Amino acid sequence: MLAGKVAVVTGGAQGMGASDAEAMIAQGAKVVITDVNTEKGAETEKRLSARGSCKFLKHDVTDEASWKQVVKTTLDTFGGLDILVNNAGVGGRASVEKTTLETWRKTMEVNGTGVFLGMQAVYPHMKAQKRGSIINIASVNGLMGARYPDPETTANAGYYASKGAVVILTKLAATQFGPHGIRVNAICPGVIRTEMSSSSFSDPDRMRYFENVIPYNRFGSVEDVAAAVVFLASDLAGFINGVALPVDGGQTAKA
Ligand SMILES: NC(=O)c1ccc[n+]([C@@H]2O[C@H](COP(=O)([O-])OP(=O)(O)OC[C@H]3O[C@@H](n4cnc5c(N)ncnc54)[C@H](O)[C@@H]3O)[C@@H](O)[C@H]2O)c1
Repeated sequence: MLAGKVAVVTGGAQGMGASDAEAMIAQGAKVVITDVNTEKGAETEKRLSARGSCKFLKHDVTDEASWKQVVKTTLDTFGGLDILVNNAGVGGRASVEKTTLETWRKTMEVNGTGVFLGMQAVYPHMKAQKRGSIINIASVNGLMGARYPDPETTANAGYYASKGAVVILTKLAATQFGPHGIRVNAICPGVIRTEMSSSSFSDPDRMRYFENVIPYNRFGSVEDVAAAVVFLASDLAGFINGVALPVDGGQTAKA
């Protein structure tokens, strides 16, 4: 489905990003994974290189200059850039009342500004070649406020605000990039088992709560999200532009 295409996945050292990279490589893409975690990034590069073409780059998505380097190295290494998955993100928990300004700023910077800079960085190349697919990883928390019984266990205020920003920024970019052959879509994962959500998975009360709000018979996996990434990246999704697709077992349908 992705033969001949080149992708960049941010936050690709582990979790959903590594799974997205693996799924796209399985479909024939060449993939650059970027992350601030160099140890895990190198490990993942080694693991995925056994299955296809994969390169790891140290990269902080909040750093504009390093985005230029990512685009240049991707073009130099794999000779193209067709897909960007803006996946890197940070979590954390606190109510609106208790979220510190420092946490708010850090979360907005990585989850919001990082996506903005990524779209800006790849745009000139994608515009010149008149094609591209950008997939921004938002969250169900960008579509609705959570109603957890205990507000202190909910995601921090900056998380919701940043993911909401990603959803609407995706729609704006879709309208501005679309005329140049570039599709921009968001994926809004629900409860997915990764390191970020591990504290939820080890909390029985919280998991009972999630069982009640997800109208399906299980929680999500990184493979569930990767399948949506592959689809949106591929030409099969050729007329899908500007959507915020929940991959959540129906959680937002029930909200
Ligand atoms: N796990 C879930 O339930 C869930 C649900 C909805 C949305 N999401 C979103 O999915 C994405 C992936 O999350 P995950 O669950 O795989 O988390 P994760 O913590 O396992 O992986 C996130 C990766 O992003 C990297 N990263 C953090 N800051 C960075 C920066 N400034 N520059 C580059 N890389 C950076 C981390 O090093 C890490 O490898 C995130 O955007 C997250 O908000 C996760």
